[in-house]
Amino acid sequence: MKPPVIIAGILLLLLSVIGGVVAMMSQGGGAAAYDSMSGQEIYAKLCQQCHGERGTAPRGLANSYARKREFWNEENLLAYIASPISVKKKMPHLRDSKRVMPAISKSISVAARRKLVAHVLGLMDALEPKTGGPSTRSAQ
Ligand code: HEC
Repeated sequence: MKPPVIIAGILLLLLSVIGGVVAMMSQGGGAAAYDSMSGQEIYAKLCQQCHGERGTAPRGLANSYARKREFWNEENLLAYIASPISVKKKMPHLRDSKRVMPAISKSISVAARRKLVAHVLGLMDALEPKTGGPSTRSAQ
């Protein structure tokens, strides 16, 4: 074997070892485990520490979801969690914020993300101010 062939062989071997290690690391915590979790469980694991159980960000580590429902739908929320920095530029209420939200791990499946996003939209719905009909408005 000529030296270049040996070097190429060693390089290939190294690349596959590195590739294997990277693949194992990105599966860290078992990304597939999210597929068997509910949206609420995924939220509790990945988002709650900053956004709080109900999305009110009680510790001030993130934005509250209150009065944010009008800005979000399944599609743009999926895009946002995948790439917060690029999507916030298109959102008038976030564009000028200097705060940073971490992107979700690439190893989490779209199916798991959809469950998560549905849960987040539900939290936003629950925080919407009650518009109240004429009866509630005239009560006091
Ligand atoms: C390390 C803390 C942290 C974690 C973890 C986190 N966020 Fe955030 N999140 C933030 C911060 C800070 C902002 C405000 C970003 C900005 O101002 O641009 C934010 C903003 C948001 C917004 C926009 C709210 C608005 O004002 O319209 C949504 C939606 C959101 N996060 C969802 C999530 C979801 C879903 C997860 C879990 C996958 C998550 N976040 C995890 C810190 C976090």
